[in-house]
Amino acid sequence: MAEKSFKYVIVGGGVSAGYAAREFAKQGVKPGELAIISKEAVAPYERPALSKAYLFPEGAARLPGFHTCVGSGGERLLPEWYTEKGINLILNTEIVKADLASKTLTSAAGETFTYKVLIIATGSTTLKLTDFGVEGASAKNILYLREIDDADKLVEAIKAKKNGKAVVVGGGYIGLELSAVLKINNFDVKMVYPEPWCMPRLFTADIAAFYESYYEKKGVSIIKGTVAVGFTSNDSGEVKEVKLKDGRVLEADIVVVGVGGRPLISLFKGQVEEEKGGIKTDGFFKTSVPDVYAVGDVATFPMKLYGDIRRVEHVDHSRKSAEQAVKAIFASEQGKEIADYDYLPYFYSRSFDLSWQFYGDNVGDSVIFGDHDPSSAKPKFGSYWINNGKVVGVFLEGGAPEENQAIAKVAKLQPPASSLDVLAKEGLDFASKI
Ligand code: FDA
Ligand code: NAD
Repeated sequence: MAEKSFKYVIVGGGVSAGYAAREFAKQGVKPGELAIISKEAVAPYERPALSKAYLFPEGAARLPGFHTCVGSGGERLLPEWYTEKGINLILNTEIVKADLASKTLTSAAGETFTYKVLIIATGSTTLKLTDFGVEGASAKNILYLREIDDADKLVEAIKAKKNGKAVVVGGGYIGLELSAVLKINNFDVKMVYPEPWCMPRLFTADIAAFYESYYEKKGVSIIKGTVAVGFTSNDSGEVKEVKLKDGRVLEADIVVVGVGGRPLISLFKGQVEEEKGGIKTDGFFKTSVPDVYAVGDVATFPMKLYGDIRRVEHVDHSRKSAEQAVKAIFASEQGKEIADYDYLPYFYSRSFDLSWQFYGDNVGDSVIFGDHDPSSAKPKFGSYWINNGKVVGVFLEGGAPEENQAIAKVAKLQPPASSLDVLAKEGLDFASKI
């Protein structure tokens, strides 16, 4: 098979790839210079839509509606846009071998691609219960969600098992967003997770108490402190029951599993320096190998604001890291300098009528403020985190755009705080004054 050569190759066609492509175009990439190689069948899209509007019973989001870069209010890059710009979108193509020394990638079908500059943007994959040897975990209708094909399988299962019983395994992002959307689809939903409260990697017990109670009021039952240890299936091989470690057995027509992700870096093992489960980069997303960059979920990068190195599995960083890498590539070609990445962590989620944003770092002591009564018509509350006398992180549920901007400013500027009590009393006013 003929070898295809490009000046720039992006391996992976997700969120980072879409935002990188837009930046390449801004920087004046010439037709034929850039290729994006993706195992998915569609042009880059805003992945967060898959666990939200894509699964709505009515008015569901569908492509081409949510191609990048609409998620951040930017231009929607349709497949035609890539053609017009002379960017090669090589879809349905999984790279199975990467040789960074000879700058060659090989696809599952045996095609080879060479490049001068490579951007690794392979994102994450879901952890599977079969990976942990959970009995019966390969039954039909035990579903995961990462890519559009997975979302289509979920849509089909939701239709096939209309008004049925769903068990959601995991109390993180997928667990909370999917439980809500399955409830909206009129499923009987039970959520199971091992921790004492949901989303423990971000939520405090106080924050979690609000969401758990709100979900219960919507009819989602929550089972904490246990895990799924096995599944039984019917004669057609479809899941029928979920066996929990505490001995309970739950009936299920659909099981959705969200027990975490894993960055896809195995192609590059032994060829590039790793750190904290990802590919180690500098503040320009350059890896330890010349001409190889890594962005999005796979990058472990210097977090300038906190003086450490981190990996971030959220969409805002995937967009910004991609843009930074492309700017850095062009700057280095032109002998120019750009500032290194100075990222303020920003995460968000939406479910039911709720919507929260978080900025900064959730370390130190925390305090909750505002109306966190789940029965309120319009609950609005938040939390501040104080570390070494400074406010370093802020969470806000139900904030207006200017309030969300205010909390972002606080997290960035890290103003001193006299006491948790004062912050609790002042609430959002504290942020609005900064
Ligand atoms: P991303 O996963 O977007 O793209 C990777 C691409 O590489 C995929 O197209 C994949 O097929 C391809 N690929 C992988 N290996 C390959 C290979 N060997 N060959 C070819 N192609 C390959 N974040 C947030 O802040 N708010 C939110 O609401 C959400 N919501 C959300 C919902 C769901 C369902 C998921 C799964 C994730 C989110 N996220 C989120 C997280 C966010 O979407 C995520 O951090 C970014 O998509 C990461 O962007 P990347 O480009 O790094 O990977
Ligand atoms: P997560 O890490 O947010 O949550 C995983 C949850 O599963 C945790 O509560 C964990 O303790 C629990 N768990 C682990 N093992 C378990 C077991 N055996 N049984 C039951 N529960 C178990 O991961 P996720 O929710 O799977 O999300 C996957 C990826 O998608 C992450 O990168 C996440 O950032 C991303 N994502 C982000 C958003 C968002 O930012 N709004 C939305 C969806 C997905």
